[in-house]
Parts: sequence; structure tokens; C-alpha cells
Amino acid sequence: MWDGPYGDWGSRKYLVSSLDQSLKRMGLDYVDIFYHHRPDPETPLEETMQALDFIVRSGRALYAAISNYPADKAREASKILKSLGTPCLIHQPKYSMFERWVEDGLLDTLKEEGIGCIAFSPLAQGLLTDKYLSGGIPEGSRASKAHGFLRPANITDDKLAKVQKLNEMAKSREQTLAQMALAWVLRHEGMTSVLIGASKVEQIDDAVGTLQHLDFSAEELQKIETILNG
Ligand SMILES: NC(=O)c1ccc[n+]([C@@H]2O[C@H](COP(=O)([O-])OP(=O)(O)OC[C@H]3O[C@@H](n4cnc5c(N)ncnc54)[C@H](OP(=O)(O)O)[C@@H]3O)[C@@H](O)[C@H]2O)c1
Repeated sequence: MWDGPYGDWGSRKYLVSSLDQSLKRMGLDYVDIFYHHRPDPETPLEETMQALDFIVRSGRALYAAISNYPADKAREASKILKSLGTPCLIHQPKYSMFERWVEDGLLDTLKEEGIGCIAFSPLAQGLLTDKYLSGGIPEGSRASKAHGFLRPANITDDKLAKVQKLNEMAKSREQTLAQMALAWVLRHEGMTSVLIGASKVEQIDDAVGTLQHLDFSAEELQKIETILNG
């Protein structure tokens, strides 16, 4: 990504040159998966998908993928990629208890198209953990930093009240709230994986602990709905 023409979005020029720059920086010959970050309203989808096809065929990536595409655009992108012979491997959308747009058609589309799904920001950037429950913003936490998307203003009383109730529920399941939030994202049959962020090794250990208790009863799922819609 760079300032000026073709420095962002979805043109063939941008995608191929920015990947070449990344490969150079990383000292790699290829990446396993190359994602197109989000649809480009100014570039025909055909051009963007042809660029992904070229990137795979030229050996710069093993698989092509997309991110942040709404259901209709994801379906269109998938059809183009299939016609080119480079099927879309996976879609990376934002999904958590606090951001549920994927439930409104995207998951069905991915299932129909045979595309995997890996959710990013599953912990709503730390909000869906016990970190902010005491009311303050802990030093070093994401919300305490000047940059980034989680601002103190996003940590509202309404959200904290929900997080408090979810935290109690997680305790009754003998897991942390982060683990319950990750298990909840993974409850969909079509959810291939979940992409966590971590600022400490313990957070990765905590996330891995999710695998100890992934299932939910119908009552538990209903209780979560009640809390989230409350
Ligand atoms: N495709 C896209 O457009 C897109 C956009 C954004 C991100 N992503 C990808 O998705 C990844 C994850 O996104 P995200 O970082 O927003 O995800 P997230 O998992 O919702 O939030 C991660 C943050 O939550 C806190 N956390 C994690 N585990 C915790 C635990 N066990 N206990 C307490 N706090 C915990 C940490 O915050 P503290 O730093 O406060 O400790 C951590 O930095 C990113 O690294 C990036 O690769 C993709």
C-alpha cells in the first residue's frame, strides 16, 4: 500500500506490486493464501479476480481468498474465480457476538459456493473478555492506545452490562469469556476457523483452551441471544 494512484484497493497493478513488495520484505518466494482485502468500487470485479488468478498461477500464492466482501459480491467473485479455474479458498469477515452481519446471508452463500470462512476480531478487539469489566481501561490494553479501532468511547455502559452477564455465563461453563466468545463464533458448521489477535502469550494459551469446551446447549444459545438483545 502506498500513496498515489494504484496504491490501494483492487487493481491488478496494486495487487501484484504490493504482493511483490511484501514477498521481498518477508524474504519469501510465495504466500500460502493471498486475500483481497475488500471490494473496490472503482475497479471491475473481473480485473480484481483476474489478478488473484494471475497471482496463484504465477506462483506468488498457493490459494486465492477474499475478505470483507458482502454476500452478493462474494458470490459474484466466486463465480468469476471458478470460471478462471482458481476457486476462492476462504472468506475472512469480521464476526463476533457484537457484529453479526455474516449471519444475514454471507454464511449461506459461502456454503453454496463451497468457500471456507475464518472470522476476524472474534473478541471485538478485547471487549469480549474480562479485561474492561472493572470499569477502567487497563494500561497497555488496546483501548488505552492512541492508534487503532477500539476507542474508550466504544466501551459503553450497555456493552459492559452485556459483557458482565456473558462473563457470568462463561464462568458457569467453566471457561473464560474469551473462550466462550470464540466457541460461539465456531458454532457454525461453515466456520472453518477463527483469527485471534493477541498481545501476550497467555492470550494465545487462553484461546487454545477454547477447544476443551466448544459445544453449546440450545438453552445456552438462547440465553446468549437474550443477553445480546437485551
Ligand atoms: N481482514 C481484515 O480486514 C482484518 C481487519 C482487522 C483484523 N484482521 C486480522 O484479524 C486478527 C484479529 O483481529 P483482532 O486483533 O481485532 O481480534 P480480537 O481477537 O477480536 O482482539 C484481539 C485483542 O483482544 C485482546 N485479547 C485477546 N485474547 C485475550 C484474552 N484471552 N484475554 C483478554 N484479552 C484478550 C487483546 O487485546 P490487548 O491488546 O488489549 O491485550 C488482543 O489484542 C488481526 O491480527 C488481523 O490479522 C483482519
